[in-house]
Amino acid sequence: MAVFIDTGNLFEIEKYHKMGIIRGVTTNPSILLSEGVTGGVKGIEERMRQIAEMIHPLPLSVEVTSNDKTEMLEQSEMFSEWGSNINVKITIHGPEGELLNLEVIHELEKQKNIRVNATAMMSAQQCFIAAMAGASWVSIFGGRVNDMGYNSSLEITKLRKLLDQFELPSKIIVGSTRETFNITDWLSAGADIVTVHPKLISGMIVHPYTKETVKMFLKDAESGEKFVK
Ligand code: E4P
Repeated sequence: MAVFIDTGNLFEIEKYHKMGIIRGVTTNPSILLSEGVTGGVKGIEERMRQIAEMIHPLPLSVEVTSNDKTEMLEQSEMFSEWGSNINVKITIHGPEGELLNLEVIHELEKQKNIRVNATAMMSAQQCFIAAMAGASWVSIFGGRVNDMGYNSSLEITKLRKLLDQFELPSKIIVGSTRETFNITDWLSAGADIVTVHPKLISGMIVHPYTKETVKMFLKDAESGEKFVK
């Protein structure tokens, strides 16, 4: 799986999708707001349908906009009707540490056959619990973990070991990318997927010395064309 793109921007998604280098898309309410997606659930629906169709059958994560149990369940059922490749993001707990989110994750996966990306997690132990509840994906926010003074790579390695040890099938997504080197570091630490901000994807590809080398090749090719024996 390796690389997902963490954006709601259609142009960026299309650009990297055409190159064949992304394996899915993740969004959240903050990302969508920054992309000008407004108008509540109607606005989200319009953009999500466009993305889901564009990348099908690759997965798209859409986050619920409420922390009320009934609303989370209703929205999850509604979102998953927008496209067969849509999965639902549910935060590990509510804004005050409410635990009912785990019931929602479990119910969606085990009773409603809806794939869940358990999100906004900052530690291996949170992700382990979400995996126990049955989440298909567990998202740890590597950049935010580092911001708090912890080592995200150590958390990822610990989580990889736990999921393997207890044969839990959840895939580890690491989000909250801050620097280009996060991507290969987190994948090497044991992540299944890193979901990457678009500007960091181009950072992975373009290298100043490669530019210089390509310029040299093109210049020499031109000189060779002019040179007649
Ligand atoms: C991942 O799923 C999240 O959407 C995202 O990476 C959070 O990133 P941030 O910490 O930059 O907001």
